Amino acid sequence: MENSSNQVLFSALQPSGKLTIGNYVGVLSKFNEMQKYFSCVYCIADHHAITVKHNPDELKKNILDMLAIFLACGVDTNKSIIFVQSHVPQHFQLCWILNCYTHFNELVKMTQFKEKSKINKENINSGLLNYPVLMASDILLYNSNFVLVGPDQKQHIELSRKIAKRFNKVYGNIFTVPNRLLLNSGKQIFSLQNPRKKMSKSDQNPKNVIFLLENIKSSLEKLKLACTDSEIPPKIYYDLNKKPGISNLINLLSCITGKSISYIENNFHSETYKNFKSFVSDIVSDFLRNIQNKFFHFRKNEDFLKNILLNGSNKAKEISKITLEKVMISIGSII
Ligand code: TYM
Repeated sequence: MENSSNQVLFSALQPSGKLTIGNYVGVLSKFNEMQKYFSCVYCIADHHAITVKHNPDELKKNILDMLAIFLACGVDTNKSIIFVQSHVPQHFQLCWILNCYTHFNELVKMTQFKEKSKINKENINSGLLNYPVLMASDILLYNSNFVLVGPDQKQHIELSRKIAKRFNKVYGNIFTVPNRLLLNSGKQIFSLQNPRKKMSKSDQNPKNVIFLLENIKSSLEKLKLACTDSEIPPKIYYDLNKKPGISNLINLLSCITGKSISYIENNFHSETYKNFKSFVSDIVSDFLRNIQNKFFHFRKNEDFLKNILLNGSNKAKEISKITLEKVMISIGSII
């Protein structure tokens, strides 16, 4: 990696569906900037995506789409490593070992496991249960100092830290204990029609979600219908409890424009909801148009994309092999 910083930042997304503007706010919006401060490792976590039923052709397409989005967000392959998780088998080797240092009780009480089990009643597989252990493996293989995730992944990062410390306690300082990177704009974006629920790729109702690659007209229709509130007279200010719908739009605007929440409150305080939404819509459509233009530029050249993944997995293997070897020696598997 060519960054002068010796601090490593790790982040990953699942190619499990279409990326949302929530993914952008939570992590993608920071991918470019983080390259200034860290050696960045950006992973396409395809084997996390198979913990729910999936279509192989869609997975293939989603992996390349995700890579093109990373590039559209400014990831520079001369500075950062981008790779597909399953192209680096060390992730699964370490995952097995870490499974033996993770307690069943820690996994069953994970909020995401409980939520996904409710939605996928007919397919509560052990991959879903062990999902956070594979995350820990992803992170720990690269000696990551920081992990960039949205708020919903906090519990998983805490578990990764716990696993690393538990292992280190037995075998010495094998793993770097990672920290979750807290960024001001690392906010949660909520569903448009139910702003108490996370905006999610897998939402059954597409009206709740703005997808990064969606038709701009349809995203504007969705914003028009986004939930607000019935305060009289209507006021634009940030209060997640009292005004979750308006606060959600303020967060979105703040992240896309880089303006602070108080700046937005001051500028729009007495605007009607209609005018405010219309402003948000203009900003979102410019943003989508810009990112989609860049996406299509990169996406059309599949050979170029595949080559990036090949180089990325080679670089990722170099690092992960060293960590795995240390682990194997410490547990007594290398004779
Ligand atoms: P995924 O693909 O579900 O989410 C990717 C990232 O997007 C963030 N995110 C959001 N942030 C704000 N508002 C939202 N509505 C929103 N929706 C999603 C998530 O917090 C996440 O950071 N399990 C990870 C993928 C992963 C990973 C890892 C992350 C696999 N291995 C190792 C870090 C380290 C995930 O949630 O993917």
